[in-house]
Amino acid sequence: MKLDVIPVAGKIHVARLMDTTAIVVDVLRATTCMVVGIQNGIVKIIPTSDAAEAASFVTRLGSRDSLLAGETGGVKTQGFDIGNSPFEFSVEAVKGRTVIMSTTNGTTAVCASASADNVLIGAMVNATAVAKRAVELGKDVVIICAGTDGAISADDLIAAGAIAEEIIKGVGKAVCTDTVSVSRWLYKGYMEKRVDIHEINHCKKLIELGFEDDVKFCFRRDMTDVVPVYSYGIIQ
Ligand code: MLT
Repeated sequence: MKLDVIPVAGKIHVARLMDTTAIVVDVLRATTCMVVGIQNGIVKIIPTSDAAEAASFVTRLGSRDSLLAGETGGVKTQGFDIGNSPFEFSVEAVKGRTVIMSTTNGTTAVCASASADNVLIGAMVNATAVAKRAVELGKDVVIICAGTDGAISADDLIAAGAIAEEIIKGVGKAVCTDTVSVSRWLYKGYMEKRVDIHEINHCKKLIELGFEDDVKFCFRRDMTDVVPVYSYGIIQ
């Protein structure tokens, strides 16, 4: 098996994803919210590229069973029902609902991955489960990090490293790119407490906005076996 990590979703080439399984990662916080939301009973998530597209879906679907979720600049987008905190994706808030989601980087990264044969949603909270599922699918794997505003975000690389470790354990041997090695080194540094996540810009920003508990939550490993799948515009 070949294993690759794309460090920023903007660098995806459609042809690169042909005949692969893609795992999209936006640890802080979009893909963590997706995993938690599906675990808590969301019927489906429709990821969109921007807030206007998300709002237009609600107009078409009706607001009775659908919820608008997402952030702008880290805080709940004006007029949306919930923001982009995993704590807002509680059973009480999301069970039985269709969630239309728009975030700055995460939902765009999911939409941009559609040309892969399989698109799985990954995070720290389901790292082992998503790796296991990718191995079962038997194709080459590309881990796509959402990044932040077109730049690398180390939180995504740490999770990519954690997922890559599990994939390599699962297949025994994989042909890896250098970005896989960099992600694994970073993950190892994090596990050995040489890498402090509080130095990551996106962590700093979320903590400044009062989301320190979100950061802690998003870095909890293997809280669930749920592996959402993105197919035909829908995450389930
Ligand atoms: C994003 O998609 O850019 C993030 O999930 C932002 C956030 O932390 O809410």
